[in-house]
Amino acid sequence: MKIISNNLKDTENIGKIISRNLQSGTVLCLDGDLGAGKTAITQFIAREFGVKDYITSPTFNIIKEYMGRLPFYHMDVYRIESEDDMYDLGYDEYIYSEGVCVIEWSENIKGILPADRVNINIDRIDDNRRMLNISGRGDVFENITEELKQYENTCN
Ligand SMILES: Nc1ncnc2c1ncn2[C@@H]1O[C@H](COP(=O)(O)OP(=O)(O)OP(=O)(O)O)[C@@H](O)[C@H]1O
Ligand SMILES: [Mg+2]
Repeated sequence: MKIISNNLKDTENIGKIISRNLQSGTVLCLDGDLGAGKTAITQFIAREFGVKDYITSPTFNIIKEYMGRLPFYHMDVYRIESEDDMYDLGYDEYIYSEGVCVIEWSENIKGILPADRVNINIDRIDDNRRMLNISGRGDVFENITEELKQYENTCN
């Protein structure tokens, strides 16, 4: 499905809906150009998830761990050169843990993403507006799209 975010507040509302549907083991993939809003939506998702720390981009660390209602792992794989490097960082343990994984630039490791996941591709329309293209497989994906459709209707 596609949904337009008209401004940051809208992205916050969408992020909250996503956050409430995350379950143990969910992998959420965020793609889109530099400055699209991957970290911005992650911050809203994390806050609603109960993460008290302010989330910053983990570009240099690749993976940062937070605690919310479940462990919350934020990855930015922009600089990953090979999928093997991900395993060296313990990737397997993160995605098969009870926690939730949010992965910015997931297309860089598309060969090792689990089949059950939620993908959000963010396109910049202009300074404030973003087009979110959401795809995926599994219950969490189904629940998120269902709720976002309802949200879209209340906005129109
Ligand atoms: N509707 C919107 N949704 C999300 N972000 C928005 C929106 N409108 C404006 N912005 C701004 O766009 C910027 C997005 O930056 P952000 O760091 O989240 O991008 P990113 O996709 O994580 O980039 P990078 O690839 O460098 O990590 C922020 O400054 C944010 O305030
Ligand atoms: Mg980012």
